[in-house]
Amino acid sequence: MLTVFYYALALTFCAFFALLKWNSLRYSRKGMPPGSLGWPFVGETLKFLTQGPDFMKESRSRYGNLFKTHALGCPIVVSMDPDVNRYILLNEAKGLVPGYPDSMRKILGTNIAEVHGAIHKRIRGSLLSLIGPIAVKDRLLPEVDEFMRSYLDNWGGKVIDLQEKTVEMAFFISMKAVVENEPNSFVESFKATFDSMALGTISLPIKIPGTQYYRGLKAREKVVTMLRELLAKRRASSATHDDILDHLMRNEDGKHKLDDEEIIEQIITILYSGYETVSTTTMMAIKYLCDNPSVLQAIRDEHFAIQQKKMPEERISWDDYKNMSLTRAVILETMRLASVVAGVMRRTTTNDIELNGFIIPKGWRVYVYTRETNFDPFIYEEPFTFNPWRWVEKKDLESHNHNMLFGAGGRVCPGKEWGMLKISLFLHYFVTRYRWEEAEGNKQLMKFPRVLAPEGLHIRITNY
Ligand code: HEM
Repeated sequence: MLTVFYYALALTFCAFFALLKWNSLRYSRKGMPPGSLGWPFVGETLKFLTQGPDFMKESRSRYGNLFKTHALGCPIVVSMDPDVNRYILLNEAKGLVPGYPDSMRKILGTNIAEVHGAIHKRIRGSLLSLIGPIAVKDRLLPEVDEFMRSYLDNWGGKVIDLQEKTVEMAFFISMKAVVENEPNSFVESFKATFDSMALGTISLPIKIPGTQYYRGLKAREKVVTMLRELLAKRRASSATHDDILDHLMRNEDGKHKLDDEEIIEQIITILYSGYETVSTTTMMAIKYLCDNPSVLQAIRDEHFAIQQKKMPEERISWDDYKNMSLTRAVILETMRLASVVAGVMRRTTTNDIELNGFIIPKGWRVYVYTRETNFDPFIYEEPFTFNPWRWVEKKDLESHNHNMLFGAGGRVCPGKEWGMLKISLFLHYFVTRYRWEEAEGNKQLMKFPRVLAPEGLHIRITNY
């Protein structure tokens, strides 16, 4: 009897160790970076998501700047070396293409991250002509100004959830640029569907009715149908428009001609890419200003100086925007300190790749983790202090090789200036019109894997 018990115990131990080694055996190759692949299927997902930055730091101290792990359903090499990170982002042609999680790829479709080489060049060229710096200066600026001016009306005397308001702002302003003059009922119902789609992109890809992923896939179908109907409506009408959809359909420059499916993907890309990044940065900038009264006073001075030179209803001009140097610094400092983007994902496609003396097998993900660089004391003195002046005093900090707040290389953010403008004008009208303080009872903010106020960020607002 006892022998059976010992056999069973030995078998359980063997099964346990085989299971523990399963991932290592499955993925083992000579010359790969050090690291642990954890349990089968789940790998180290739990540690990755719950301990985030601490997990990265601990793994780095154990294995070095380049280590392997297994999270979110796939084997990953994490790179925390700023030079290697830059090399990866600058060398897409060597087979390191964007490699976002499956849920994101399946729901977002053939969007810009899924195309490479000549097709990427054409899609990106089209995008830059619509939302790049020249379009911002020549076309988008008055629209952003008009939107912010009215969006930030009548907030005095209220308690608002800043997170909800900045999310709404980021979506409506992009939507207005894409399709002007659509009725509110359409925009509201489109937003609800789009939000459900966007939530699906950050879920586990389990395609069973009831899951967030399944709802996301269904929402994508509806988003595509709604956009197809919009295209058909435009074609059937003789009315003229001055918005992104019209520019895409008319394709005046002829250089970046897109077919209907590509137009729809382009619109989804514009609405998706500039959504959470803009809303989160705006929310966090206001939070940091609230916590740093001397910076708030200085930024108010900057905006009142601009306002005093203008008539009450006069628009913000390009020169005014370019003179908002402290505001730009506040935005960059917010992105750095809150690490709005913790890193970007790549995957090896064509073959195994050698990186810093290690082999990265074909098909693996590479997490270009840029968050640590944001706190490098050699680049940012007293890195945990909110000090926007560092960006004003050291003008070349924004173009520093290791500043990857907007990525680097051929995929560097094409919406940077548009995003900067939206946040700057939100801050302009907010700080010149209102005072505010945090309401009681806000839960602690989450910083990883996304910056999030779990139950909202409530603030009490009074007129200035
Ligand atoms: C202001 C906050 C923003 C931040 C912090 C930000 C950050 C980034 C980063 C880090 C990347 C690189 C991704 C990668 O290498 O895989 C990127 C790419 C991109 N961003 Fe932004 N972004 C912002 C605003 C916007 C806006 C307003 C748009 C408008 C559409 C936009 C559109 C895009 C697109 C389309 C790409 C992919 C470019 C490509 O693959 O060629 N972003 N962004």
